[in-house]
Amino acid sequence: MKTILDFARARAAARPIVMVTAYDALMARIVAASQADAILVGDSAAMVVHGLPSTVDATMEMMCLHTAAVRRGAPGRVIVADMPFGTSRQGRHFAARVAGALMQAGATAVKLEGATGHEEVIAHLVQGGIPVMGHLGLTPQSVNQFGGYRVQGRSAKDAAQLRADARRLEELGAFAVVLECVPAVLARTVTKELKIPTIGIGAGAETSGQVLVLTDLLGLDANFHPKFARRYLDGHAAVLGALDDYARDVRLARFPSCAEIPA
Ligand code: KIV
Repeated sequence: MKTILDFARARAAARPIVMVTAYDALMARIVAASQADAILVGDSAAMVVHGLPSTVDATMEMMCLHTAAVRRGAPGRVIVADMPFGTSRQGRHFAARVAGALMQAGATAVKLEGATGHEEVIAHLVQGGIPVMGHLGLTPQSVNQFGGYRVQGRSAKDAAQLRADARRLEELGAFAVVLECVPAVLARTVTKELKIPTIGIGAGAETSGQVLVLTDLLGLDANFHPKFARRYLDGHAAVLGALDDYARDVRLARFPSCAEIPA
């Protein structure tokens, strides 16, 4: 995908949207060469790349740095960058400064968690030419409020609130909304009720598309395997195996060979 209009086109054509995270130029280049549609520079970078405890720890500087690297790796692709924790809660001017910095770092659009209480900020960004992707359900920046990473929208009241939030995001001009860890039936209902596409993660198969964290789908973390994330590679074993082969070859004086010595 080259612009956010491609999201609406995909939805109209009932063509599932494929999103994946990336945090650096090399991986972005690989994703850009793949069949994936769009890249999310998620604030999951704080955990995946920096080893921090939660996405609450992602900073504006961190997100700008990763966004710029991903843009260098994927020059022509739609790149959505996460607004860091707290930056939508300090007024529309502050939010516009943060979103502007992400756009100038290379984002095509920003993603913002939640809807209630952010209405003014979302409208301000959209009116200012900054495309906004919403994010509802298990919004990881609220992990401390939720008391853990739990499925959201299970009760009738919570489901009704989430549906209202999704409609509000559409009214405010969001071009798509991520639905994370909500019951599949709720994700299906929201998808039917909206004109803009929904992108699911742990939300069943009846959304307009899916998003996964790249390291989850590559199986790079041996200790983290969320139920909703399918591993398309045992990346941890593959990388470990390669490193052990290298260590063995050095110790047995098999590396470098004559052919690997520069002339
Ligand atoms: O930060 C992230 O990677 C995300 C996805 C899990 C949707 O927000």
